[in-house]
Amino acid sequence: MLAGTSNNKLVVEVKEMTTRFGDKLVHDRINLNVCRGEILAIVGGSGSGKSTLLREMVMLQKPTSGSVRVLGEDATGLADAPALALRRRIGVLFQYGALFGGLTVLQNVAAPLREHTQLSHALIDEIAMMKLRLTGLSPDTGALFPSQLSGGMRKRAALSRAIALDPELLFLDEPTSGLDPVTADALDELVLQLKASLGLTIVIVTHDIDSLWRVADRAVLLGDSCILAAGTVAEIVQSKDSRIISFFQGPRGRAARGIV
Ligand SMILES: Nc1ncnc2c1ncn2[C@@H]1O[C@H](COP(=O)(O)OP(=O)(O)OP(=O)(O)O)[C@@H](O)[C@H]1O
Ligand SMILES: [Mg+2]
Repeated sequence: MLAGTSNNKLVVEVKEMTTRFGDKLVHDRINLNVCRGEILAIVGGSGSGKSTLLREMVMLQKPTSGSVRVLGEDATGLADAPALALRRRIGVLFQYGALFGGLTVLQNVAAPLREHTQLSHALIDEIAMMKLRLTGLSPDTGALFPSQLSGGMRKRAALSRAIALDPELLFLDEPTSGLDPVTADALDELVLQLKASLGLTIVIVTHDIDSLWRVADRAVLLGDSCILAAGTVAEIVQSKDSRIISFFQGPRGRAARGIV
């Protein structure tokens, strides 16, 4: 099949993907798809390989074997120029935020536009300001430095930067980590709004079971180097597999449902 002609509904296709770091087997021939327009959540315990999987889907890391197709292209075998073109169509919010501390918020959001487009400075600033507004930040925030923002504002600024280039596909690694429940709820709401208003497909890595219930159309649970379960959250929680039960019924799962 020619590049780009595979099932147009599938925006990410991971096939038989194995990842090893030395002796450590992180993913053992895993398979998963992301469908256009959905929010797919990747969940699993710490160290189960969620961020690594995300890094492989955004071409920052190569799997040991297997294939990853993103927006119809073979993401594991692209030369530099087509890889850059593909990366332009993808937005990423990394686990540890990573705003540039020496740049203002507006300059942070403008950075991908400066890197990937030839637009004028005035137009770039205008687009960056619009992205700030889309994520609920006031224009005044643009002049601040990341160190002057609260945790929730920093996540919003990072989200503004991730959507700067109008991506079709957005990857979010733990967007609500470190936020209080009210701020985390507001961020979940924002993710849902962005999906609805921009028609985005979103892959979200999360530890937050509350957030999982609220935003995910579908989820995959990683564990023991495999995908332990895939489906809607309501389907997954029906499982009798003790590893899945312990993930959802453990103290964090109970706390998320207000049981303890
Ligand atoms: N570049 C690397 N070199 C060696 N080992 C790595 C590398 N990146 C990740 N690992 C290992 O792979 C495993 C999975 O890491 P990963 O960061 O993907 O987990 P995670 O599910 O995102 O965890 P967390 O929930 O804590 O963020 C861990 O054991 C980690 O130490
Ligand atoms: Mg991680």
